[in-house]
Amino acid sequence: MELLKVINERKSIRAFKPDEIPHQILENILAHSIKAPSAINLQPWEFYVVSGEEKARLSRRLLKSYKERQISCSPGNIKPLEEKFTKRGVASFELMNPYLEKLGLEFNRFINEGSCNFYGAPTAIIICLDNSFSKARLVDIGIILGFITLIACDYGLGTCPIGLISAYEDDIKEMLNIPDNKDVVIGMAIGYPDWTNPVNEFKTPRDTIDNFVKWIE
Ligand SMILES: Cc1cc2nc3c(=O)[nH]c(=O)nc-3n(C[C@H](O)[C@H](O)[C@H](O)COP(=O)(O)O)c2cc1C
Repeated sequence: MELLKVINERKSIRAFKPDEIPHQILENILAHSIKAPSAINLQPWEFYVVSGEEKARLSRRLLKSYKERQISCSPGNIKPLEEKFTKRGVASFELMNPYLEKLGLEFNRFINEGSCNFYGAPTAIIICLDNSFSKARLVDIGIILGFITLIACDYGLGTCPIGLISAYEDDIKEMLNIPDNKDVVIGMAIGYPDWTNPVNEFKTPRDTIDNFVKWIE
């Protein structure tokens, strides 16, 4: 697919078909994604690609922990947000909610339990960063995350970044034998989209470019 077409078509997918992704396709997606730029070409990303029964086990563990600890999806702000930001968050809730209501689903439960279950995707990708790096290297992780979402879309796959799981880092590290010196930065659900599910029908809008840019000439 043409790059701009993929960029415009990609959206987060929150319902998947159960079909496993062939190993070679996952390998191809990651092999392309590591062409992403990184500071001094450090390529600091490390991936744990979890499929099959191991993925089901991981989801069960995260759901159990969520039920015990009730840490919910949150952007983790350190100060109150400017109104324009909160408005965008509320707008995305209002956009998604009618589709969930059609299915009799409650928003918070759907997002939190859905995230812990990687929305039923057959594969979860956990992206880690060695803790010797400074927080500046999270930029590199963000870039590769974006690359993966687009390359996966090009392969006809759907993705949803899952930030929530970093709250359950201890469970993930124990289950996947991730060494102590690695931080779990973000997860991602990846699989074939279930286009019959209403939760995949909506597409979040974006503000106009004037809201983001100051042209200095
Ligand atoms: C860093 C990051 C963390 C995210 N974490 C979650 C999450 O935990 N659960 C979830 O359902 N969606 C999560 N998302 C998906 C966003 O909600 C989604 O990207 C946003 O609403 C814009 O929609 P779009 O991806 O369809 O364009 C995350 C996205 C990013 C970039």
